[in-house]
Amino acid sequence: MNILVTGGAGFIGSNFVKYMLKNHDYNIINLDLLTYAGNIRNLSEIKSNSRHKFIKGDIGDRDLLEKIFIEHKIQIIINFAAESHVDRSIANPEIFLKTNILGTQALLDVAKNHWNVATNDKNNRKFKQGVKYIQVSTDEVYGTLGKDGYFIEETPLAPNSPYSASKASADMIVRAYHETYGLPINITRCSNNYGPYQFPEKLIPLIINNALRNDTLPIYGDGKQIRDWLHVEDHCRAIDTVLHKGENGEIYNIGGNNEKENIEIVKLILNTLGKSEDLITHVKDRLGHDRRYAIDNSKITTKLGWSPLYTFNEGIKHTIQWYLDNDEWMREILSGEYMKYYEEIYK
Ligand code: NAD
Ligand code: TYD
Repeated sequence: MNILVTGGAGFIGSNFVKYMLKNHDYNIINLDLLTYAGNIRNLSEIKSNSRHKFIKGDIGDRDLLEKIFIEHKIQIIINFAAESHVDRSIANPEIFLKTNILGTQALLDVAKNHWNVATNDKNNRKFKQGVKYIQVSTDEVYGTLGKDGYFIEETPLAPNSPYSASKASADMIVRAYHETYGLPINITRCSNNYGPYQFPEKLIPLIINNALRNDTLPIYGDGKQIRDWLHVEDHCRAIDTVLHKGENGEIYNIGGNNEKENIEIVKLILNTLGKSEDLITHVKDRLGHDRRYAIDNSKITTKLGWSPLYTFNEGIKHTIQWYLDNDEWMREILSGEYMKYYEEIYK
């Protein structure tokens, strides 16, 4: 069976590709444009794995998608490819709409054309056995929470950033291809991931990296915003579960049951690294900053039997250790476009 994984050179995608090669017999076709966030080095340990094929390209390139479908007889698509950083979406929204919405639609169209089975029924809604499209979405599509309550799958979509608006739009298009054409789909909406290979623009690797270099730690506003942290390995297992057990057309929330204030995480990292809290610098708050995200996991835990295995304390220790052991990986990123971005956003 051949699976098309898109965005498989990014943080979650590269973890997922390695997880799947280790735990299953699938062949994986990994399509990634290698934007600033994609890094071929994230895949170095599977360089010579004959069940993995890397293709550099855009999910919006329909001719390329056609070629991939014909050559590899794709049966499953798992779409991780996206512009993924909120601050970049505030500075430059357009690419988010192009990649996250139109890119998703191109994938859906090509999948629909290849997987649809011609029938006499004028609606022609019959699809090949075993095919499925999975859209990797985010809890940010639900907007923000107050002190109480949790996001459930029925929570109305109320995205607040250009990033989350583009992800919510993509979810709507995926839903529409299911409702209109009968395309077999699942949508997963996960909380904030952390773990190895995360690009240093995101909170946890940014704090680890800056602290290790004794640079100031930029905390937006009061630092009391809450995120529900999920270890990337738990996320990979959840997508594997949805792939194999998810009911056609269903949405599944995936959360780590790990609500933490940003400032609490920053202090924990400083403490673990033996660095001073004097590095903490409160900076201007992010525009439209969502206050709290928290996921109600009950649907995926009760219906599909998945639950997170990592505790936050264990996961963060493991993650910090990974960054300590992989300074070369970080140094290479710091020598590229990243520092220009950092100067523009923070200075
Ligand atoms: P990432 O930014 O690390 O990786 C994205 C990957 O997509 C990169 O390798 C990039 O090169 C690739 N890409 C970008 N545009 C492309 C295009 N047009 N064609 C092909 N490839 C393209 O992101 P991530 O953190 O790994 O997130 C993966 C997915 O999970 C995204 O869809 C994101 O919205 C979602 N998500 C992430 C988190 C999180 O905490 N990181 C939380 C919820 C949901
Ligand atoms: P981030 O990792 O960008 O994920 P998201 O915005 O998708 O939740 O940010 C996590 C939290 O950390 C969010 O509340 C914003 C905050 N944050 C800072 O305070 N400083 C920073 O430099 C960054 C990148 C994030």
